[in-house]
Amino acid sequence: MIEILDHDRLERARDTGALVGGILQTLKERTAVGVNLLELDRWTKRLIEDAGAESCYVDYAPSFGRGPFGHYVCTAVNDAVLHGMPHDRVLRDGDLVTLDLAVTLRGVAADAAISFVVGERAASEDLALIDATERALAAGIAAAGPDARIGDLSHAIGTVLSDAGYEINLEFGGHGIGSTMHQDPHVANDGRPGRGYRLRPGLLLALEPWVMADTAELVTDADGWTLRSATGCRTAHTEHTIAITDDGAEVLTLAR
Ligand code: MF3
Ligand code: CO
Repeated sequence: MIEILDHDRLERARDTGALVGGILQTLKERTAVGVNLLELDRWTKRLIEDAGAESCYVDYAPSFGRGPFGHYVCTAVNDAVLHGMPHDRVLRDGDLVTLDLAVTLRGVAADAAISFVVGERAASEDLALIDATERALAAGIAAAGPDARIGDLSHAIGTVLSDAGYEINLEFGGHGIGSTMHQDPHVANDGRPGRGYRLRPGLLLALEPWVMADTAELVTDADGWTLRSATGCRTAHTEHTIAITDDGAEVLTLAR
C-alpha cells in the first residue's frame, strides 16, 4: 500500500522525524570505546518511552526474521550492516558502527540510520565507505520531488555507490513509510531513471543506501536477523526519512 499524508499527518511526521534524528544524535554522542551494544539498546528504549513514542522494532516479526526482533535499535558493527541485533559486545577503538532506528509517534513512523567510527583510530577506507553512503543518500534526496519517479532516485543513489567503486546488493533498499515502518513503494539502491512509481506531495520515503567494501553478498548470523558481509569486510549504511513536498523533498529525520 502507498500512503499519501494530509497536512495534519505530515506535521506529525515532522515531529516523529525530529525525534528519531534527536535520539540517533544522542546515541552517537554516548557511543564511546567501552560501551556495550546492550547499553545502547537500553538507552534507546528509555529515550523512546520518555518521548511517548513506540518502537517499530520490538514486536517486528517479518517473514525473514526469526520471531519478534525484541530490541529497540539496530546495532551493526564492522562487517554487520543491516538488522544488527544488539548483543553483549563492547565497542573498541576503530569500530565502524551503524545505528538504525524507527519509531511511531502519534500514529506516524520515521526511520533513519547513521554510520560512524568509534574512538580515535578511524581507518580511511572506513571513512570512505561511510562517505559514499552519505553522498548516495544526498543524491537520492536531490533527485526526489513531485513528478520524479522512483527509478530517478534509485539511479541517483546507485550511480554514487558504483562510482565510488562498490558493488550494489539489491536485496534490501528503501521504502515508503507512513502509519507503519515498511510500505510501498520499494526504493532499490540502483535502477533506471524514468521508471517506476511517480512521486506525489505527501508521500514519505525512507532512503537507505548501504554498501560493503569488497562484496555484494550477505550472510545471516545465528540470531536469524543480523546481516553481515560474506567476506567479513566492513560495511556502512545511511538512512533518512523524507517527505515529498510541492517543490522538492524535505528531510524529516534531523534533530531539531
Ligand atoms: N529500519 C530498518 C529499515 O531501514 C528495518 C529494521 S528491522 C529490524 O528498513 F527488525 F531489524 F529492526
Ligand atoms: Co528503513
